Amino acid sequence: MNRTVVITGATSGIGRAAAREFAGRGDRLVLAARSPATLAEVRDECRAAGADVLVVPVDVTAPGALAALADAAEAEFGAIDAWVHTAAVMTYGRFDETPAEVFDQVIRTDLLAAAEVARVALGRFRAASAGTLVLTGSVLGHITAPYMSGYVAAKWGLQGLTRTLQQEARETPGVRICLVNPGSVDTPVYRQAGNYLGRVGRPPPPITTPERVARAMADCVDRPRREVSVGRLNVVMRFGFTVLPGVYDALVGPLMRLAGLTDRPVAPHPGIVFAPNPAGEAVRGGWLPDVSRVVRSVGGVTAAAGSALLRRLR
Ligand SMILES: NC(=O)c1ccc[n+]([C@@H]2O[C@H](COP(=O)([O-])OP(=O)(O)OC[C@H]3O[C@@H](n4cnc5c(N)ncnc54)[C@H](OP(=O)(O)O)[C@@H]3O)[C@@H](O)[C@H]2O)c1
Repeated sequence: MNRTVVITGATSGIGRAAAREFAGRGDRLVLAARSPATLAEVRDECRAAGADVLVVPVDVTAPGALAALADAAEAEFGAIDAWVHTAAVMTYGRFDETPAEVFDQVIRTDLLAAAEVARVALGRFRAASAGTLVLTGSVLGHITAPYMSGYVAAKWGLQGLTRTLQQEARETPGVRICLVNPGSVDTPVYRQAGNYLGRVGRPPPPITTPERVARAMADCVDRPRREVSVGRLNVVMRFGFTVLPGVYDALVGPLMRLAGLTDRPVAPHPGIVFAPNPAGEAVRGGWLPDVSRVVRSVGGVTAAAGSALLRRLR
């Protein structure tokens, strides 16, 4: 396609899958996140796929950082055609047991930084009368679950912000804003999360892949849409939350403890809320079997068995 695409949150999970997806579609990439070492790895992956890549280490919550990122992108490649914002952090814990500074930093990262991305990107898109902003919401921007108050509050805020921006964008031809709302996705976010609950989190089933969400994001840049939901049960959960609030509230706590938490104990810690953990960064979180690896190992075992059989027959 040969567009210039900025991806914030490109070192892990959905953002890293998006970097690979856009690289495969022939776009130029500007990749940002906090960890310089992992950014260099993702740059190499995308260059191997044939993409021109600029990496810029950025903390999206740092004042002025996102404007500087846009300046760097324009200096390297000219106008920005699309900005895909996936950076976010998560914490588990009852609201009254989560340190206030951790809650505040989740809101700063997941909501206020997304607003700053919109401010910077839309300013440049408006001047050029062209550009697509893709923001990453969540099914948790339409429903709620216990022990994730900061994340849920930020995603509800992002939902409202995005809809407002979309209404305002009707006055700025050529400027498009899309919100992609995943359900459960197999990424490292659950282990990278801060935790004040005592049990490690996990994605409740059904779990989809970050590659599928990345394809939805790239499709949004090709053909912008207001909102895209990626997750088989998203609609069902929204229906139960809206139409049967009493039943929903009675069931969501037990279901969260059953399907959204492991039995693995964990001491209180802030996860990656304040600083990155490069060792935990990858595209997949390891909650789903990696089909290509299974195929490779089945293929390897079959080939080994075949050659052993041939040796015996000779
Ligand atoms: N996984 C799911 O089940 C799921 C479901 C619904 C919605 N989502 C949404 O999808 C998006 C991506 O999530 P994910 O699961 O892919 O998470 P992930 O694997 O933990 O990746 C998060 C990315 O955000 C970056 N990031 C975090 N804080 C940052 C900061 N202050 N400045 C710059 N970059 C920062 C991380 O890099 P550094 O740490 O190196 O900075 C990393 O690249 C998020 O918006 C999340 O809310 C995920």
